[in-house]
Amino acid sequence: MRRRLAAGNWKMNGSRAALAEIAALAEAFPAPASEIVLCPPATLLAPAAARAEGTALRLGGQDCHAEPRGAHTGDIAAPMLAEAGAAYVILGHSERRADHGETSAQVRAKAAAAQAAGLTAIVCVGESLAERDAGETLSIVGAQMAESIPEDATAEALVLAYEPVWAIGTGRTASSAQIAEVHDFMRAELTRRFGAGTGDGVRLLYGGSVKGANAAEIFATSNVDGALVGGASLTAADFGPIVAALEAAEA
Ligand code: PGA
Repeated sequence: MRRRLAAGNWKMNGSRAALAEIAALAEAFPAPASEIVLCPPATLLAPAAARAEGTALRLGGQDCHAEPRGAHTGDIAAPMLAEAGAAYVILGHSERRADHGETSAQVRAKAAAAQAAGLTAIVCVGESLAERDAGETLSIVGAQMAESIPEDATAEALVLAYEPVWAIGTGRTASSAQIAEVHDFMRAELTRRFGAGTGDGVRLLYGGSVKGANAAEIFATSNVDGALVGGASLTAADFGPIVAALEAAEA
């Protein structure tokens, strides 16, 4: 059985004052059946980990370098994230692919580095609106998966997030049918490449304007094991109902 997962991506938001949200969220879900992960900016990881200590809440980074150390000004290595208290790291988010020209080959190298550091990589894939309109959704997602996921990926070290670029931060959510088509495809691709054990074990998250109001429907969709949430993860008041919907879906 795959353990469901609600992951929050704070992106470049949050200051020390926002650490209170972490405490509130941890308090609201003392013993969740699903896994709850928050990915604050790197500067907040260590204090967030201190707040989350002794709770069920886990933490993640938003990116890492492919090398474990070296002359890479401004970058953060996977072992550094782990030391700061992260158990997860988001990789290949479309904002990084767009803002920093990150390629799938780079994402794959980062995912391998994350795995080597004992982190679980949340690898993001997803098509643009132009690609969807051109009927290329599955071929784009398939290519991103083929190029971004390392050869020795395991169900413990990999989570895959389907994030249609046109649904991120836009208030436009993909329909259940659209999500199911892609998630069923991703499951089949993983099974084809890695075999039934790993293919069945990797958790598939949907991301893109997930809110408390649409979470239950999304979590009832085929092969959806949870969500990667941006804007609605910034406060316990917004993220709590999403986690609650995931908990209800698990029951
Ligand atoms: P959003 O972001 O929930 O604000 O649409 C999702 C994401 O980028 O992971």
